[in-house]
Amino acid sequence: MKNCFEIKKMYLHYGEFLALKDINMDIKKGKVTAFIGPSGCGKSTFIKSLNRMNDLIEDCKIKGKILFDGKNIYKDYDVNVLRKKVGMVFQKPNPFPMSIYDNITFGPKTHGIKKKSKLDEIVESSLRDAALWEDLKDRLDRSALGLSGGQQQRLCIARTLAVNPEVILMDEPTSALDPISTLKIEELILRLKKEYTIVIVTHNMQQAARISDQTAFFLLGEVIEFDETKKIFSTPKNKKTQDYINGRFG
Ligand SMILES: Nc1ncnc2c1ncn2[C@@H]1O[C@H](COP(=O)(O)OP(=O)(O)OP(=O)(O)O)[C@@H](O)[C@H]1O
Ligand SMILES: [Mg+2]
Repeated sequence: MKNCFEIKKMYLHYGEFLALKDINMDIKKGKVTAFIGPSGCGKSTFIKSLNRMNDLIEDCKIKGKILFDGKNIYKDYDVNVLRKKVGMVFQKPNPFPMSIYDNITFGPKTHGIKKKSKLDEIVESSLRDAALWEDLKDRLDRSALGLSGGQQQRLCIARTLAVNPEVILMDEPTSALDPISTLKIEELILRLKKEYTIVIVTHNMQQAARISDQTAFFLLGEVIEFDETKKIFSTPKNKKTQDYINGRFG
């Protein structure tokens, strides 16, 4: 199985504060990888590093290597090319204050696609992939802000798919959603993994167990254990992992 990301001896500082320590991880292509761990342990910091979202934070310093498709994300990629290949969906649905159609075509247009027929095609296929086409096809010109929270989050996933990425990073994508919308996103993730590599941060253990192939347990900026999800949840090697998944802390 080919690796999508290879992280080697990565350290991340915010100013003097060491937020990630000696991270070593291979994230497999075409799989779902989950990051779990208590609040403040560095999950968001780490997932954001994978498409260089931390570049925007002034006193953030990264050491070590992050390889994507075998190439260094800092040295061998233009950041815009990297972010096109590695899309991101956030905790709170954040559609742009514009129509559903324009939300989806925003990315493709910035990448130079102008033809109306091509844009129409992208809108339909992205919404289909995000299981929204049937719901929304008759109101593409309406504001995205009028959608329910669950629909907004699926629209944000559709918007990410519209630029044809290889990887989708998701930081707690269902934490603001009701249980039914959460299940819809989980089903969506399971379908999407046939074509994309997915990395997801979640506080929901059942969710990690249901949808991921590999799980990393973070604690205080370190990866305590990283293994097949089955093993993490049935026979974790580390006592701290065991305690966390059994709800004994965090
Ligand atoms: N921009 C920043 N500047 C300084 N410190 C930061 C910054 N962002 C995060 N931190 C610190 O880094 C540590 C890890 O934060 P991070 O947001 O990655 O945790 P998390 O595991 O995602 O937590 P949660 O589960 O609550 O979302 C925390 O101590 C946090 O206060
Ligand atoms: Mg977080």
